[in-house]
Amino acid sequence: MIIEPKMRGFICLTAHPIGCEQNIINQINYVKSKGQIEGSKKVLVIGASTGFGLASRITAAFGSNAATVGVYFEKPPQEGKTASPGWYNTAAFEDQAHKAGLYAKSINGDAFSDEIKQKTIELIKADLGQIDLIIYSLASPVRTNPKTGVTHRSVLKPIGQPFSNKTVDFHTGVVSDITIQPCADDDIENTVAVMGGEDWEMWIDELKSAGVLAPGATTVAYSYIGPELTEAVYRKGTIGKAKDHLEATAFTIADKLKDINGNAFVSVNKALVTQASSAIPVIPLYISLLYKVMKEDNIHEGCIEQIQRLFQQRLFNGSSIPTDEKGRIRIDDWEMRPDVQAKVAELWKQATTESLSEIGDLAGYKTDFLNLFGFDVANVDYNADVNEMVEIPGLV
Ligand code: NAD
Ligand code: NA
Repeated sequence: MIIEPKMRGFICLTAHPIGCEQNIINQINYVKSKGQIEGSKKVLVIGASTGFGLASRITAAFGSNAATVGVYFEKPPQEGKTASPGWYNTAAFEDQAHKAGLYAKSINGDAFSDEIKQKTIELIKADLGQIDLIIYSLASPVRTNPKTGVTHRSVLKPIGQPFSNKTVDFHTGVVSDITIQPCADDDIENTVAVMGGEDWEMWIDELKSAGVLAPGATTVAYSYIGPELTEAVYRKGTIGKAKDHLEATAFTIADKLKDINGNAFVSVNKALVTQASSAIPVIPLYISLLYKVMKEDNIHEGCIEQIQRLFQQRLFNGSSIPTDEKGRIRIDDWEMRPDVQAKVAELWKQATTESLSEIGDLAGYKTDFLNLFGFDVANVDYNADVNEMVEIPGLV
């Protein structure tokens, strides 16, 4: 079939398998161009099909020749209906990994469930014995706690008082004022239950008690801080409470891994266009201004550049892992540079529907968004008839 982007609200309902494959090849080539990393050899990535988790899987495999197991929740294709992008990404990644002689298998299902955790453990036991790196990179609006059976929904809201600021509809480029009402009482608890550290800890508990963590095993989860501009809706909002909990959980897990010389970290990453971040109000305007400034200063990075740098210069730099005063790895260092933030804050004041295409990188935002679904990727023939019924070679 001929596949075109079909937008609905903040999501795209279609995905292009060849475009997704080209994205994977580009990311692999980038990692290879940066040289070998003396990293982990057996890696589990939870949330492995898009965004930072996918970049982590690619970096481990093609930077350190690691065997990788990926866990993700993606929609398979049906005749005449495309899969979700993470499906095509994973198919292309595993195809490339297998061609390179690398072990790569994956599990598609709800990572929050006991069932998927047990399935993953069985796969590791059968094929790899033990793993030495676990990347936790889930982004989800909903989680059913397997112990209580309660389904929690996360919200992206300020706490205590309404928040008013500018935002942009990146499809139309219209900048407008929005007011977001504060969350209800149980919203914080629910958001923490979905995006906090409870499930990360459950994963590590299960992996450890099954004996599949190698001596020295390390686990890393991803967090975000961001600027004052977005604080009310992000770091000091409901999602920020979840990130506080995730960051605190790193210490709990680190304690639990001491007896095997293991460790646990949170890495604070840069704001980037992903399916998760596009849904947060105010953030797309911030990202489009940030991209403009960082591209002009030649310090712009996408997911793969961020994660390649995280692995090479932080996690596996041949020395100790540098952290901030709260024990967090910072790979958002360039985003948070005072000169970068000062320029973004100045542009923020000037941002209007009329000025944004000039002072912000709205075009870059749109391209990155389309790229997430395999569209608008260079060297892809979008007029060609393509097979949507792609299989994932390592799917268990
Ligand atoms: P993403 O939407 O690109 O990736 C989410 C991944 O989680 C996908 O692989 C998806 O299949 C998987 N997933 C979701 N629900 C699942 C479930 N129930 N079971 C199994 N898999 C499931 O998101 P992302 O932006 O890469 O976010 C990953 C992490 O990085 C999040 O913790 C996010 O907060 C953090 N982060 C994101 C940004 C950003 O700007 N995008 C910045 C810093 C940190
Ligand atoms: Na991810």
